[in-house]
Amino acid sequence: MERADKYICSKTGISRKEIRDIFKNGKIIINGIVIKDPAFKVNPAQDCVLADGIKLSYRDKTYIMLNKPDGYVCSTRDGRSETVISLVPQQMYNKDLFPAGRLDKDSRGFVFITDDGDLAHRMLSPKKHVAKYYLVRLASDYKESYESFFEEGIRIGEDEICLPARVRGMPGQPRYAFVELYEGKFHQVKRMFESVENSVEMLFRTQIGNLSIDVELGVGECLEMLHKDVENLTTSSDFFESFERTKEKFWAYLINNKL
Ligand code: URA
Repeated sequence: MERADKYICSKTGISRKEIRDIFKNGKIIINGIVIKDPAFKVNPAQDCVLADGIKLSYRDKTYIMLNKPDGYVCSTRDGRSETVISLVPQQMYNKDLFPAGRLDKDSRGFVFITDDGDLAHRMLSPKKHVAKYYLVRLASDYKESYESFFEEGIRIGEDEICLPARVRGMPGQPRYAFVELYEGKFHQVKRMFESVENSVEMLFRTQIGNLSIDVELGVGECLEMLHKDVENLTTSSDFFESFERTKEKFWAYLINNKL
């Protein structure tokens, strides 16, 4: 159990000074009853807390799928550029949110934003074997020879060798490829294609674990995820099944997200 004012401030970023007025004005509803006492005790896992019309619990944690646009950085703060957190709408926002895993500033697609550090760890640790999938547009045509280079573990720097990865060309799309990775080195996909004398013009993350980005999600839009979808983030996936799924959705990605 914790004090309602402290809990609401931590979930919303509202200051301790402002929250007193919000209570006084009858805008805090807990389990259907207007509560005016900021010291009222809540159990976030059980109580339904509405602050100024925004539902903060039943659920203790927040899970968001973002379709990241080009030009935003995957961090909570950045002096120069806008962060992906600035794209989270107010009703989903709390100050503990962070992007679990990074896409480059010019990369697009599925970014998972949460305040659940344990789940983020399960999703990101190479030991947990959660795959990430990317659609890339290349500067030159795809070559089948890339497949064995990627599977053997490609060298991308003097001391940097990648874990075995998979790649396939998109049928009928000579400059598009689909990549599966189990780790996230700095600019990894771009450097892998540079090692085979090609380069990445556009990178779009389509899937994390067994969960694909919602094709209906517009560029820069967020979606609060359902529990069953969150489970799929850490479920193991099959490369060929994921490839088939991406082939089916390719035109939707192309039209909705301007690949
Ligand atoms: N690999 C890259 O090179 N960039 C990304 O954003 C993600 C993977």
